[in-house]
Amino acid sequence: MARRRPNFYEHLRMPSTPTYSARFTYTFYLGAISIALFFILGLTGILEMFLYVPTPEQANNSVKLIAFAAPYGWLIRNMHYWAGQAMVVTVTLHMIRVLLSGGYKKRRSNWLIGMSLLLMTLMIDFTGFVLRWDDRASWALLVGTNLIREISPERTPDPRIAQGEDIFYNGTDVAPACALCHTLDGTTLVGPTLQGIRETASKRVRRQSARDYIRTSIISPNSYKPPGFENGSMYPDYGRVLTDEQIDALIAFLMTQ
Ligand code: HEC
Repeated sequence: MARRRPNFYEHLRMPSTPTYSARFTYTFYLGAISIALFFILGLTGILEMFLYVPTPEQANNSVKLIAFAAPYGWLIRNMHYWAGQAMVVTVTLHMIRVLLSGGYKKRRSNWLIGMSLLLMTLMIDFTGFVLRWDDRASWALLVGTNLIREISPERTPDPRIAQGEDIFYNGTDVAPACALCHTLDGTTLVGPTLQGIRETASKRVRRQSARDYIRTSIISPNSYKPPGFENGSMYPDYGRVLTDEQIDALIAFLMTQ
C-alpha cells in the first residue's frame, strides 16, 4: 500500500494499527459511531434524570412531563430513544464486522470484552424501555421476567404462597379466615398483627426457626403467649381442620411477610 499522510481519524487509532484496517470501507466506523451514541445516551439520560421519578405511581407521568411539558424535553427524549435503538444496531453490526474481518484474532480478550458490551447494551436498552412504565413496557417486563424464570426455575415463586394467601384472607369451607383476627399492615385486631412475622417469629423462641414457630402457633396457639395478648382467643382447631398441605401453604405465605 502506498504511503500517505494519515488523516485525522487515523490519528485516533493506535500507531500500531495498520492504516488499511482503520479505513472506512473496512470498519464502517461502527465502533466510533457506537461510542458517539453512548455519549449522546449518557448526556440525554442525565438530562432526563432531572425530571424522571422512579416510582410505580409517578414514572409514567414523569415521562409524559419530559415528553410534553419540559422545554426541549421531546427532543431530548427522542434523541435518547433513537440513540438507544441505534446503538443496539451499531454494536451488533460492529460485532459482526469484527467476526467477519477476523479482527478479534489479534487480541482475543477483545472478543470477550465485545461480547459483554453487546450483552450490556441489550440489557440497558431493555431496562431503559421498562423505565417508561407504560403498557408496552410492562408487557416487556413480563416477558423478561418469564424468561429469567425459565432459565432459573428454582427462583419461581412458590405456588403455595398464593394458596396460603387465599386461606389467610378467605379461610376454607371449614376453617375461619386468619384475617378475621390478624392484619398484615400493623394494626391490631383480636390477635397481634402479622406484619413482619417472618422476623418476629424467628425471635420469639430461642433457637426455634420462624417456620416452626409459625407452625406451632397455628396448630396449637396456646403454646405461646405473644406479649400483650392472652391465650384462648385464637381459633384452636386449625390443626384439625386444615390439611398439612394447607398449613405449609400458610407458612409459605407468612414467611413472605
Ligand atoms: C379468632 C381470632 C384468631 C384467628 C381466626 C386466628 N388467630 Fe392467630 N392469634 C390470635 C390471638 C388472640 C393470638 C395471640 C394469643 C395466642 O397466641 O394464643 C394469635 C397468635 C398468632 C400467631 C403468633 C403471633 C406472634 O406474634 O407471636 C400466629 C403466627 C398466628 N396467630 C397465626 C394465625 C393464622 C395463620 C391464622 C389462620 C389460619 C390465625 N392465626 C387465625 C387470634 C386469632
